[in-house]
Amino acid sequence: MRGWMSRSKVSRSAGKVAVSRADLQDLVVDARGRTFEIVRDLSDEQLRVPLVRTINPFLWEIGHVAHFQEYWVLRHAAGNPPVRSDGDSLYDSAKVEHDTRWNLPLPSRAETLRYMEEIRDRVLDRINANSFDDSRDTYFVLLSVLHEDMHDEAFLITRQTLGYPIPAGLRVGDAPPVEKCVNEDVKVPAGEYTIGSTSEEGFIFDNEKWAHNMKVPAFRISRSLVTQREFLNYIEDTGAAHPHYWRRGDNGGWFRRHFDQWLPLELDRPVSNISWYEATAYCRWARRRLPTEFEWEIAARRGGCEQMFGSVWQWTSSEFLPYAGFSEDPYKEYSSPWFRTHKTLRGAAWSTRSRMMRPAYRNFYTPDRYDIWAGIRTCALES
Ligand SMILES: [Fe+2]
Repeated sequence: MRGWMSRSKVSRSAGKVAVSRADLQDLVVDARGRTFEIVRDLSDEQLRVPLVRTINPFLWEIGHVAHFQEYWVLRHAAGNPPVRSDGDSLYDSAKVEHDTRWNLPLPSRAETLRYMEEIRDRVLDRINANSFDDSRDTYFVLLSVLHEDMHDEAFLITRQTLGYPIPAGLRVGDAPPVEKCVNEDVKVPAGEYTIGSTSEEGFIFDNEKWAHNMKVPAFRISRSLVTQREFLNYIEDTGAAHPHYWRRGDNGGWFRRHFDQWLPLELDRPVSNISWYEATAYCRWARRRLPTEFEWEIAARRGGCEQMFGSVWQWTSSEFLPYAGFSEDPYKEYSSPWFRTHKTLRGAAWSTRSRMMRPAYRNFYTPDRYDIWAGIRTCALES
């Protein structure tokens, strides 16, 4: 399993995140570089996107990524004045309503890119400053890097949603890898297991706190993800609607849209881009069930399952809820607004940065979302 950062890069002592300043600068440069890589090739025409509930205008979203970093690292933590007087009124996602983002006096593409570079460079300088606090300030730099990673995945989702091509020269994982399907369960005995994160685990989000023990009955979880073949069997058997990005060709064969390409189904690949409702309906047909997020986390820590990380996100049966004793971290809008209305997903997709891949990391979406690279791992009904 790939940790989100190697131990040599991040460790904690006395509850503080410790990363060398050089490594921290590398992370800032890497995340901003990835953002540029994903949006650089878009034409002015492609930058203008239709008003769709699940996406944001590219020009707004790249400015938002830099503004978020400026807000937390340079203003909140370091006490600097704003770089742009209109930054908060344009880019604060908690204040600027989604639909409003299409009608803002946004700076030009060139000006937005300059702002993104300027903030990056100011943050690099800040990390070098004598007054930089290696615990408190490091936390906010890492928060901004991981926030950017999440938006980078969202940029790819936007490109998939709109049928744009895969970014030219994307370095990592152009598509979910083909994996041999092993129809077999991993048996996990009943016991008391650790769920959540401790202060020893590097940067963690508020919704993972804190590690606690949970009594869990025995369960059996599938070693592999549900494949396109299995999902096709389900829709052909039941007449259920096909996944949103699938269509039938003139010759009767099935195709899946991957960015701007229609590809024949590759039946041994994991099924992806299905909603929680579709995942649940599939399980009913297969006489299986989705794992709870806790079962998933236990299985991830024990090992034995394949493609837990880096293929597709995996829906769980769990509602996204706070753990006992939850309290918000400084970025209050990260988790709290979404409890109870979202389902939890675990793992990570091919489009996710490896530093996000941890057993305790909780992703969350509303159950109708089919636009994300999410698929299914099932559990047996009987243990
Ligand atoms: Fe954001």
